[in-house]
Parts: sequence; C-alpha cells; structure tokens
Amino acid sequence: MKFFIDTASLSEIRMAQNLGVLDGVTTNPSLMAKEGVTGTENVHGHYKAICAIVDGDVSAEVISTDYETMVKEGLQLAALDSKIVVKVPMTEDGIKAIKYFSTQQIKTNCTLIFSAGQALLAAKAGATYVSPFVGRLDDISVDGLALIREIRTIYDNYTFGTQILAASVRHSAHILGCAKIGADVMTGPLQAIFSLLKHPLTDSGLAQFLADHKRVATQNFN
Ligand code: G3P
Repeated sequence: MKFFIDTASLSEIRMAQNLGVLDGVTTNPSLMAKEGVTGTENVHGHYKAICAIVDGDVSAEVISTDYETMVKEGLQLAALDSKIVVKVPMTEDGIKAIKYFSTQQIKTNCTLIFSAGQALLAAKAGATYVSPFVGRLDDISVDGLALIREIRTIYDNYTFGTQILAASVRHSAHILGCAKIGADVMTGPLQAIFSLLKHPLTDSGLAQFLADHKRVATQNFN
C-alpha cells in the first residue's frame, strides 16, 4: 500500500519524506487555506514547491465546478509538473472532466467519494484514483472501511485500473484496516503515519536494552 500525506504543509511533507516512506501528497482547498496559500500564482508556486520535495504523485484540486472551467484549470495544474494529479469533485461536470483528462493522459483523483456507486462511475470515466472518505463516514456513524471493502470487490470483479486512495484517514487503525482490505493508497495526516512507530513495549524494551548495556559497560570499565 502506498503512503500519501494529506497536507499542504511543506515542513510536514519534508518530515514524511525524510522518514523514507512517502509515496505522494494529497491536498485540498481547505488544507491550502490552512497554510494561508491564496491566489492562483501563489497556489501554483506552492504546488511546485511540494513537487520539488516528494518523489510521487501530488493531488492538486480544482476550485471551479463547471466542466469548461474545470478543464481549463486542470490543464494549467497538470502543466506545472509531471507529478501533478488533477483532483476533481464527484459531480456530473467532474465526471465529464475526468473523462476528458483521461483521453489526454492526464492523471486524475476523483474526490468526495461516499458510495460504491460513485466509485464505479469514476472508474468508468477513467479516473486514476478515487478518494473515498473513511473518517468522514465514521463521523456520521457509517463504517468507512466497509466502503473501501465494497469498492475493492467491485474493482477486482472487473479489473478496473483505477486505484483506491483511501482518504480522510485519521489514525493507525484506519491505516491498518485499509492495508488489510487492500486499498492501493492511503492518505492521512503526519501524526497518523508517525503513530505507526509507537508501541509501549518498544519503548520499555529499548530502555531495558540500553540500561543493561550501560550496566555491563560500566562494570567492565571499573
Ligand atoms: O483530502 C481529503 C480528505 O483526506 C480530508 O480528510 O480529515 O478532512 O476528513 P478529513
């Protein structure tokens, strides 16, 4: 399973990249706003800066909602760097835009997926990735991982090339759930990725190893 980080923060992207486990980045307009990035020129510059850090796909979301403007905006985003994946919302115009981009060999990520039917439609349109939102379904007491499982079954039935990019991943249990089901990619915040490092027995075991080593080393020295 590929690991993407869901952030527009350059420092967080660098931290994940330095850990050596990063396969890509996803952003959205809310994450860009959180970093205070506004205006087309600044937004484009920020995407270029992200692409310079990461070895892998970088999802850049269109702001427009009608087909013509989505296509125009998506072409501009795709021209910024070969790593750019044009992120398009799951709407009627979005599906048409994804179809267009697929004919131009431009990678797409169909976002705001909350049902298997939406994921099926996006795959039919030729999306490179679909982003089902695991955490936001859990937030409304709907099993988010069950949706990943359902989409996996459908895509495997017909060998769709569209990759399942499990989004709105919030914690290590989500990441493990996605891995067990066979999501192609998960995208989550930095702290969810780093939380995989942690186990109390690792900490206490390491402390014991180091204490034992220090005791014997001190005895030998005396
Ligand atoms: O980028 C889309 C998705 O990952 C957002 O996650 O945590 O805002 O539901 P979240």
